[in-house]
Amino acid sequence: MEIPYKILGTGSFLPELVVDNEMLAKIMDTSDEWITSRTGISKRHYCVTETTSDMAIHAASNAIEMAEMDPDNIDFIIATTLSADYTTPNMASIVQAQVGAKNAFCFDLNAACTGFVQALDIAMRYLNTDERKTGLIVSSESLTKLVDFEDRRTCVLFGDGAGAAIVSNRQADGSDLPEANIYESFIGADGTGGEFMTGKAFERANHPFIPEDMVFEPDRFGHETGKYLSMKGPEVYRFATTAMPLAVEKAVERANLPLEAIDFIVPHQANDRILQASAKRLGIPTEKMISYIAETGNTSSASIPICLDKEVRSGHIRRGHTLVFTGFGGGLTYGACVCIF
Ligand code: ACO
Repeated sequence: MEIPYKILGTGSFLPELVVDNEMLAKIMDTSDEWITSRTGISKRHYCVTETTSDMAIHAASNAIEMAEMDPDNIDFIIATTLSADYTTPNMASIVQAQVGAKNAFCFDLNAACTGFVQALDIAMRYLNTDERKTGLIVSSESLTKLVDFEDRRTCVLFGDGAGAAIVSNRQADGSDLPEANIYESFIGADGTGGEFMTGKAFERANHPFIPEDMVFEPDRFGHETGKYLSMKGPEVYRFATTAMPLAVEKAVERANLPLEAIDFIVPHQANDRILQASAKRLGIPTEKMISYIAETGNTSSASIPICLDKEVRSGHIRRGHTLVFTGFGGGLTYGACVCIF
């Protein structure tokens, strides 16, 4: 479809503490060689005093600044996270209050690592109306709240951070955009693979009417207790290397473009080997599949907008480039969007 839109600004925030592979190797049975060769990750950022909402506010403010946007003119905020600080207020409302976007309606969305792609797709559908609209998408994750540092199979993969983008169907000054842009997406899910990536939100019911001698069975994913992320790595790997290329192909096909017309794919940063295998499966040069994972590890839904912001600010991604954002994650969820920057 053709929608009048522009990505007016991007932003990101990474916490100050940098933890490299050597630091992890000092506290658990792992090595720089294992982590780098299996994942491409060299370091990641960890929150200490920063919270998920703090990072979201920083990333959103950076995007608003780049867009030269008056916060009063933001009509909606979609926040994506699986590591929110609060169940209520939602993170989008916390960001709204802090950046002063008092006219925006706000909601949070959890599609795990596919969150940014899913949020962008919803935003584009709001923009594709007769109304004049501007949206702020902000994705922020503190995965260190959720990972088990006794589980070397998962903890070495994840980091904390936030990214944001302002999308609008008008220019920052409120004037019309010169022309409509191509936008297409393909979003999917396979709930039968839910067990491959799980993290428990709350303990069971704990009201006063539960018999004291009640013995609960493990829950549907076999959780006895605990809140930590649990992952079946090889199964997720197989899913990722199939689902991401499929979503990219379908979205590009819907946009009626040849794959060669894509300047860059900005993928969810989970594992460099997944990115290389996906590029190979698509038959595109690996240079077009942007990898930033060495610096951040996997920051779940924040990884795509962080990567986008870094590439935009370095000048690698420029106005007019045709981009595909693509992600996969717990759910299992996956998707891709074709956008012109
Ligand atoms: N350091 C050293 N050795 C390790 C470590 C570690 N950190 N972790 C695992 N190992 C060992 C294992 O114990 C195993 O040893 P064993 O054979 O003696 O039992 C060996 O390394 C191989 O383990 P595998 O799990 O089979 O390793 P694999 O080659 O599959 O790589 C990895 C693991 C990197 C996790 C890979 O499966 C992967 O990337 N999967 C996808 C993960 C992903 O994308 N997750 C996020 C998606 S969802 C989201 O983003 C929220």
